[in-house]
Amino acid sequence: MSGENAFPEVFPQAEQVDVRLTVNGREYAVRCEPRTHLADALREHCGLTATHIGCEHGVCGACTVEVDGAPQRACLQSALRFEGKSITTLEGLEDDALTDALRAAFTACHALQCGYCTPGMLMTARDIVRRLPDADAARIREELAGNLCRCTGYQGIVAAIEQVLATYRSERRHAA
Ligand code: FES
Ligand code: FES
Repeated sequence: MSGENAFPEVFPQAEQVDVRLTVNGREYAVRCEPRTHLADALREHCGLTATHIGCEHGVCGACTVEVDGAPQRACLQSALRFEGKSITTLEGLEDDALTDALRAAFTACHALQCGYCTPGMLMTARDIVRRLPDADAARIREELAGNLCRCTGYQGIVAAIEQVLATYRSERRHAA
């Protein structure tokens, strides 16, 4: 093989498709390969890097975003599949009171170390608080089973979610 290039000098251009995504209430026109998954489209084409990518196999939950109001993995399906859906990333929750409360509780409870899992954890935690206002620690752990954290041992994350749930329950009681 000496002196010979084993690879062609010019690789054929991969097929590109146009995808329209609605993220955080804004329209994005994305041109990408058909196989580009939503997480890559968000990060590489929309500049929304709060969504992290870990396993790309639907296991770790780092890529969790909200699609039409429910948490969903962003690494498992082509961005094309999300046309016409409403996607929310952590960037879109800057003014969300519940996300603010969760961020503060995560800090207070030492619920993060490297922070890599945190965006996905916050998306799932937000869903838990909204959907399961009476969840106890065991139920929180069950709900967090799809989000992996290599650093914290989960204790602080569960405590943070419990703290926010307790505050919301107390506010509900006072409002009643
Ligand atoms: S990167 Fe999507 S689940 Fe791990
Ligand atoms: S804080 Fe490092 S992976 Fe969760």
